[in-house]
Amino acid sequence: MDSHRNIPTRIETERLYLRPYRAGDGPMYYAVGQRNRDHLARYETENFVRMLDSEAEAEQAVQDLAAGWEEQSSFFMGVFDKRTDEFVAQIYIGPMNWDVPELELGFFVDCDHEGRGYVTEAARAALRFIFEHLDAHRVSLHCDDGNVRSARVAERCGMRLEGHVRENKKWPDGDFSGSLSFGMLRHEFEALYGGIDA
Ligand SMILES: CC(C)(COP(=O)(O)OP(=O)(O)OC[C@H]1O[C@@H](n2cnc3c(N)ncnc32)[C@H](O)[C@@H]1OP(=O)(O)O)[C@@H](O)C(=O)NCCC(=O)NCCS
Repeated sequence: MDSHRNIPTRIETERLYLRPYRAGDGPMYYAVGQRNRDHLARYETENFVRMLDSEAEAEQAVQDLAAGWEEQSSFFMGVFDKRTDEFVAQIYIGPMNWDVPELELGFFVDCDHEGRGYVTEAARAALRFIFEHLDAHRVSLHCDDGNVRSARVAERCGMRLEGHVRENKKWPDGDFSGSLSFGMLRHEFEALYGGIDA
């Protein structure tokens, strides 16, 4: 990224707030990983939050994520319930190509908070953050073609299905699945979300 952008460190939505991880989040993040190990096993198999073995390791992980935020090399945010401060989801934003700029959006919901619209609410705010503060020209999202819940989040946010690669993964049980690619362009964001505020 050519210049260091001045970006917000707290985003509020109707029910939630999003913020980067920070020192001291380790015990909370370790508990998230423990609680969601099975929930994330199928579609987020490699997610490092599942692999954390101790609070100390989780603390190092959140400090690394906080450093990534400071360097603006990746943007991980915890999503919290405004009323209770409970962790409800994670948003990941990763640069694919700053020359475009193209960024990738990813997420997971905490297993105790699925099916309440929290991820769609947070992902919509994340799209606004990406277009308004990171000056994106496009945003991409990739998911397994069996991951109906993830595809629904993308659709509810107004992202367009751009590609479907069939049966490019093989599961331990011998089944195959494919990959879906969603995208949103800057002019589509402006039309759907009512313009750029930043
Ligand atoms: C993919 C994933 C994040 C989707 O989470 P989710 O809870 O289904 O998504 P949302 O928070 O947007 O909730 C949507 C659901 O809440 C329901 N809902 C309930 N109250 C709602 C409200 N007030 N507003 C909006 N939706 C509401 C919606 O009807 C919808 O249910 P439906 O899909 O059965 O129709 C989640 O399944 C997950 O973490 N999976 C494992 C990790 C993963 O796959 N990550 C993505 C990798 S690409």
